[in-house]
Amino acid sequence: MSEEETYVGRTQTSSDLYKKAQKVLSGGVGGSAPSFDPYPFFVDRAEGSKLRDVDGNEYCDYNLCWGVLIGGHAHPKMVEGLKKQLERGTIYGFLHDNSRVAAEEIVKRFPVEKVRFTNSGSESTLYAVRLARRYTKKEKIVKIEGAYDGVADSLHVSKIPDLSKVGPKERPTPVPHGKGIPRGVLKDTLIAPFNDIEVMQDVLRENRGDIAAVMVEPVMMNKGVIPPEEGYLAELRKLTEEENVLLIFDEVKTGVKIAPGGACDYYGVEPDIIALAKAIGGGLPIGAVAGRGEIIDGVGPEGLFGTYSSNPLSIEACRITLQEILTGKAYSKLERLGNRLMSGYEDIIEDDGLKAVVQGVNAVGDILFTDHPVTNFREWADVDKEKAHHYWIAMLNRGIIPMSYGADEEWLISVQHTEEEIEEHLETFKEVVSGL
Ligand SMILES: Cc1ncc(COP(=O)(O)O)c(C=O)c1O
Repeated sequence: MSEEETYVGRTQTSSDLYKKAQKVLSGGVGGSAPSFDPYPFFVDRAEGSKLRDVDGNEYCDYNLCWGVLIGGHAHPKMVEGLKKQLERGTIYGFLHDNSRVAAEEIVKRFPVEKVRFTNSGSESTLYAVRLARRYTKKEKIVKIEGAYDGVADSLHVSKIPDLSKVGPKERPTPVPHGKGIPRGVLKDTLIAPFNDIEVMQDVLRENRGDIAAVMVEPVMMNKGVIPPEEGYLAELRKLTEEENVLLIFDEVKTGVKIAPGGACDYYGVEPDIIALAKAIGGGLPIGAVAGRGEIIDGVGPEGLFGTYSSNPLSIEACRITLQEILTGKAYSKLERLGNRLMSGYEDIIEDDGLKAVVQGVNAVGDILFTDHPVTNFREWADVDKEKAHHYWIAMLNRGIIPMSYGADEEWLISVQHTEEEIEEHLETFKEVVSGL
């Protein structure tokens, strides 16, 4: 029996529910959820490191909602704190002091003075660009080829561009991600490859006086995991300062995960603006844009509006995550477990002779089915997507969601995962590897 047939045999209730969902939900999916073949499974409940589907199958979860749940599912501290907050009201439409407390935690961790809360990563990156344009009075931005920085028109560009359209690697062509992005917007989004300071330098020089900001995800986490090469981020900082251009770190995926203060902390680089979301909210919708006071305060009466921004539930989830769950001890454990998972995968791959590489930083990592290290989008492009699918379904059939679905994603380990679970994950991979 093929792995897909085994999957179908285990997930009949999900199959029925998916048929019903397709009638009223676009693509059968309510919002963001991977729609993989033959069909996605439906979740019944989740707790700790585990998730159970509607057919009663249990999975050890390393997707953790695309890396949001570094505290794991239904962390007892989160459940208790949110219950208390529910009793005090869900949203006020007036100030509440907990926003200051949560912002202070962000200011302690990141090299920023002021914070403004949003509801998602896309809002944070959208506002980061708006703030940069407002502050510099310039309009162009540079984004990295292959990076995903949210769905704002000016950023939803060259996310996974078709290789026939990308142009020369020295001057990548901006390619809109799908239809609906106005051509007029594209003229202000310039594209540069990751880990290539020379091309960035040329792009900045050729457009001197017109560029508001460079936006970079300091570790690319939407093409597997692509860490910056030694010195790249520091050189980028120096270059943007010389060229009088703001540097925005999109820390939506890296922030508070690879280190307490995200990539700024891990690599010791200070950008001008940081966009945060995902893990800072412990599972509730939240984002933040943060930076020097003179930049963030610039929003003034024009505002960073959002009915739900800084809502008491999300803010309390953020405070609990940063103050009570992500302690120093938690980071040591995450680092230890993360390194064990990566080195375990490497050993198994070497023993088997499989064409694959493992890339990651601490609790975040991935397996890329290719025979060379990946340092930018174009090197990622030849990763074997079919093998990534097969690996995922095979692991799923054995009770492990090994990472988020797709060759462009990665795994995360939560504070509720155990050493035994990491060993079980590796044992399962050992079983699966021969079929790859
Ligand atoms: C690096 C990065 N930036 C921005 C976003 C957008 O965040 P959200 O989905 O919360 O809008 C994502 C989402 O995956 C992301 O990975």
